[in-house]
Amino acid sequence: MLVDSHCHLDMLCQDRAALSAVLDDAGAQGIQHMLCVSVSLERFAPMMALIEPYAQVSASVGVHPDGTGVEEPGVDQLVELAGRERVVAVGETGLDYFRTEGDVEWQRERFRRHIRAAREVNKPLIVHTRAARDDTLKIMAEEGAAEAGGVLHCFTEDWEMARAAMDMNFYISFSGIVTFKNARELQDVARRLPMERMLVETDSPYLAPVPKRGKTNQPAYVRYVAEFIAELRGDSFESLAAETTRNFYTLFSGAGHG
Ligand code: NI
Repeated sequence: MLVDSHCHLDMLCQDRAALSAVLDDAGAQGIQHMLCVSVSLERFAPMMALIEPYAQVSASVGVHPDGTGVEEPGVDQLVELAGRERVVAVGETGLDYFRTEGDVEWQRERFRRHIRAAREVNKPLIVHTRAARDDTLKIMAEEGAAEAGGVLHCFTEDWEMARAAMDMNFYISFSGIVTFKNARELQDVARRLPMERMLVETDSPYLAPVPKRGKTNQPAYVRYVAEFIAELRGDSFESLAAETTRNFYTLFSGAGHG
């Protein structure tokens, strides 16, 4: 029993034949549910069509912070799409100053609209933050993100950031990055984090964990992330898998136990 709390199945799979194979591999590793995360409005409808037959896949709606030249989402539009069947979260949203240059006020505005929509539909936020720690926390506080709750996904920040996020009712999700040799500070966060605040993810098709580093990532590999963190903490794989799975269904209460 294990859940991949963040993957991009529509980037990994061109069609349902490919997706079926990926889901079979995940099932064989005990991955019982996956959250397929939206990155743009343009991709949203095709993504929903792709996952439609598979009860073990939930979805989110949102526009990625580093998406440029894409349709800009309005609050009402996000609210409408977030209310659809199978949609259990709003995101991924957030701030990414690493990959964008110049005036990024548009990024902050986009983030604010996602938080407002999440509060309105009472669904959790999936937040991506990179090289933007202070502004991410500031906007989360200003917009009342704690009311919706959510997750800081693919966490790569320090303990202070984790604690600040937990104070705002957020979970922390670890990806394959935690298994990388140079990720000592992140491993320290994974060791200290209260288990009831932890999620695991692949962010596939990116960031495959050791021992698959450099390969195309897929939900089945979330097992490597969970095994690595369990070892790091001196926990059993079974208990870490069970607790992160329970956390997932607590946070994303709209996800069926498919
Ligand atoms: Ni992602």
